[in-house]
Amino acid sequence: MPKKKLVVLTGAGISAESGLKTFRDAGGLWEGHNVYEVASPEGWYANPELVLEFYNQRRKQLLEVEPNPAHHALVELEDFFEVVIVTQNVDDLHERAGSQNIIHLHGELKKVRSTVYENLVYELPGWELKLGDNCEKGHQLRPHIVWFGESVPLIEDAALHCSDADLLAVIGTSMQVYPAAGLIHYASVQAPKFYIDPQAEPLHSVQNLRCIKQNASSGVPELVQYLKRDFL
Ligand code: APR
Repeated sequence: MPKKKLVVLTGAGISAESGLKTFRDAGGLWEGHNVYEVASPEGWYANPELVLEFYNQRRKQLLEVEPNPAHHALVELEDFFEVVIVTQNVDDLHERAGSQNIIHLHGELKKVRSTVYENLVYELPGWELKLGDNCEKGHQLRPHIVWFGESVPLIEDAALHCSDADLLAVIGTSMQVYPAAGLIHYASVQAPKFYIDPQAEPLHSVQNLRCIKQNASSGVPELVQYLKRDFL
C-alpha cells in the first residue's frame, strides 16, 4: 500500500522556538530594517556591505541554534507518509532535524552564489561572506536568497507537489508573501488541511481546513499523533 503524500508548508514560525526571529512578529527581523535595503537587488546595488552584514549576522546566529520538537516531529512522519517539506525558511533546521525532501522556496542562508553565473552555487564555510569573496570565474559572491522582486524558481515544483498531496499542513507562516502563500490553493478541495500557528485563522476559500492555534513545538507533535491515528 503506497504511503499517502503529505506536503508541509513551513514559515519562520516553525523556527521561532529554536530562537530565530520571525519577520512580522513584534521584534521581528523586518522591524529593525528597511526590507528593501537588505533583501532586494536594489538594496544590494546600493549598499552591498549592508546586505552582506544582514545575512552574515543571521548566518552567525544559525550556527548557535538547534532544531526544535516541531522539526523533529516532521521527521517522525516520514516513517508513515511520503513527506515533502516546502519551506519559505532559509535556515537549515529541517535538514539538521533529518527531513529528507525539502524545497527551499526562498533560498538557503548557508549557500552563496555568483552574482554573474547564478548556477555557480557554493556552500559557505563559516558564517561570513565579504566583498571580494569571488566565484571561480572572478565575480562577487552574493547570498543564495530569493530577494523581494526576484523570481521564485522552485514555485512550479512546489505547486505540483501541492496539487497531488493527499494531506497538507501549513506551519508558522503569516501567509502574506506570494507566490508561496498561494500554494495552498493548489491542493485538492478534498485534501484535509491543517494550519498550525498561534494566529491561525480560517483562510479565504480554503476548504477542509483545521486550525490548530498553538506554537509549533506543541502543535506539530499533536498533529503527528492525529495523523497517525486517523489518516494511516
Ligand atoms: N510557532 C508557530 N508559529 C509561530 C510561532 C511559534 N512559536 N511564533 C510565531 N509564529 C507565527 C506567527 O504567528 C506568524 O504567522 O509565524 C508566522 C511568522 O510570519 P512571518 O514573520 O510573516 O514569516 P513568514 O510567513 O515565514 O514570512 C514569509 O516573508 O519576508 C519574507 O522571505 C521572507 O520567507 C519569508 C516570507
